[in-house]
Order: sequence, then structure tokens, then C-alpha cells
Amino acid sequence: MTKAIRYDKTGGPEVMKWVDVDVGEPGEGEVRLRQSACGLNYIDVYFRSGLYPQPLPAGLGMEAAGEVTAVGKGVSALKAGDRVAYVARPPGAYAQERVLRADQVIKLPDGISDEAAASIMLQGLTAQYLLRRTYRVKAGDTILIQAAAGGVGLLVCQWAKALGATVIGTVGSDEKAAIAKAHGCDHPVVYTREDFTARVREITNGAGVPVVYDSIGKDTYTKSLDCLAPLGMFVSFGNASGPLPPIDSSEFAGRGSLFFTRPTLFTYIAKRADYEANAAELFDVVASGKVRTSINQRYALKDVGLAHAGLEARKTTGSTILIP
Ligand SMILES: NC(=O)c1ccc[n+]([C@@H]2O[C@H](COP(=O)([O-])OP(=O)(O)OC[C@H]3O[C@@H](n4cnc5c(N)ncnc54)[C@H](OP(=O)(O)O)[C@@H]3O)[C@@H](O)[C@H]2O)c1
Repeated sequence: MTKAIRYDKTGGPEVMKWVDVDVGEPGEGEVRLRQSACGLNYIDVYFRSGLYPQPLPAGLGMEAAGEVTAVGKGVSALKAGDRVAYVARPPGAYAQERVLRADQVIKLPDGISDEAAASIMLQGLTAQYLLRRTYRVKAGDTILIQAAAGGVGLLVCQWAKALGATVIGTVGSDEKAAIAKAHGCDHPVVYTREDFTARVREITNGAGVPVVYDSIGKDTYTKSLDCLAPLGMFVSFGNASGPLPPIDSSEFAGRGSLFFTRPTLFTYIAKRADYEANAAELFDVVASGKVRTSINQRYALKDVGLAHAGLEARKTTGSTILIP
């Protein structure tokens, strides 16, 4: 028996229970992992609260790192003792041990610790596709990222800066502004007292930006659209404040033939070759020091309720890991 987090009804952090589970032996094409660190992500809140429904009872958590302890029939690329990490569905990463398909995990290079990997598999691979594939950021671009001091935010700021962009980022406090600035955000905007649309227009001499990466959703939707230059791209990649209203296409025509996309990481890593290539690129930027991981909160996995409460109350910066 090992321990894992399960929930049998949706609701607040209290619905998550630390229970005994039997993970069993890996079947054909599967591996069993002993996990040393799990990542905390906003998507875990969406599942727990019911915004993203799934059949219950169920596990939670999308990413973790650890060691392979057994391999099933037909697995030749991995062996017991290998250090690996993953971001994978269905939720269930909040666990001491887990069985997964071998093609869902990535071998870790020496330069990436288990804890670092658990903090970047989801948020870092998200930063990778946002900046390198959804809208390909180039030197000289000025971009806007919402929640710049958050988990995805600090990675996006640093990576965009390394690509030669000027980064404008919204944050909820002066303390978060200082953290974002220290991670490559040229213009942190404290949206609680500054109008971020006006600041974007001022910083870009009225031109607007070619891309807005918006993970706040409902509260920032219209103002984010107002930041875009004609032909700009609105990248709606999250809904921390609630889902967007129904899309009215005239909003996109009227502001100058804007593009809209609602991307999800799992589309961008659906093919194994992409998963491997994107992870390799992520590990390279981290190993090179261009992008630093920011594990600013650490909890025992059994105390994950406290971690969720802190994330939802906007008390966190950077990434949070959970130790099983
Ligand atoms: N589509 C994808 O592939 C994908 C992948 C990863 C993450 N995401 C999304 O990206 C976002 C960031 O994820 P994360 O795990 O890195 O979280 P995070 O940014 O560390 O935390 C969320 C932050 O959002 C800001 N926020 C603004 N309004 C909020 C509200 N009403 N409630 C709570 N927070 C609010 C807060 O920062 P301030 O205090 O500075 O406002 C808060 O710290 C989430 O929306 C997540 O769903 C999407």
C-alpha cells in the first residue's frame, strides 16, 4: 500500500483526502514510479472545484518526477533506477507511487533535479509552446503576459527576455512586481492601481502588442483585447478568474483582424516526438541558466489543501512543489 490524494466530490480544498492505494504491477508498455516531487498547477484547482469535470472518485495532479521501480513487458527504453518526469493525463500525480504508460514519461538529464523537473514539466512546457509555437516570439517584439509573477509567468518572462523580447507583465502587488522584474519582466504593471491597457499603449507608443498571453480569463478579457495591435493574437490559455464570456467575433474584426486561440498543452505534446523535442528544449534553457526554476513554495503532499488555498488566494509566486 502507498498513499495518494483522492477526491469523491468537487468543492474546496477540504475535499482532497490522503488515502491508501494499491498501484499494482506495471502492465505491458507501462512503468511504475516512486515519486519524489509533484508539481502544483492551477488546473488542479479547476478539477477539484468542478470547473473541469471528471468521473469521481478520482486522483488529482498532472506532473511529477521520480524513479522507475519496475517496467512492464515490452518496455525497452526505460529500466528500474532511471530518473524520469512527466506531465500526463488523467489527473493522479498527487501520489507516492504511480503506474503510467512508458511513453508518458521523459528521462531526466543529470543537470535537472527531480524537484526542478516537477516544477517545470507543466508550466515550462507551457511556456515553451506559448513562446515558440503559438505565437513565435522574436527579438524586438514587445509582449504582454498576465500573472507575470506566477508559475507560468516567471518562466515566460525569462524565456521571452532570452529571445530578445521586451516583456510587459501584470501582477497583483508591488512585491510581485519586484519578483517579475528580477525574472526579466521589463515593465511590471500592478493592475490593482494601474490601468494595464493604458500602460501597454504608453510603453508601445500607442501601437499595442502583437500578442497577449492571458490566463486570467473573465476579468481581463476585454482589456487584454484592447492591448493588441491590428493582426495581433489573443492567446487565452487559462481562466483563473473564471471562464470567458461567449466569443463575439465582431470584437476581433473591430480591433483590426485579431486572431484568437484557446490552446492547451496536451495538444502541443500529443505526439511523442513533440513531447521529447519540447522537453529537450526546456531542459536546455534551464540547464544553460537562461531560465531559472522558481520553487517558492514547498509542502508535504498530505498538506496539499494548504497549497491549493494559497494558490487560489494569490499568495504564491513562481512554482509550488509537493513532497510525497
Ligand atoms: N492552457 C494551458 O496549456 C495551460 C498550461 C498551464 C497553465 N495554464 C493556466 O495558466 C495560468 C497560470 O497557472 P499557474 O499554475 O502558473 O498559476 P499562477 O499564475 O502561479 O497563479 C495564478 C495567478 O493568477 C493571478 N490571478 C488573477 N486573478 C485571479 C483570481 N481571480 N483568482 C486567482 N488568481 C488570480 C494571481 O496573480 P496576481 O496576484 O499577480 O494577480 C495568481 O497568483 C492558470 O490560469 C492556468 O490554468 C494553462
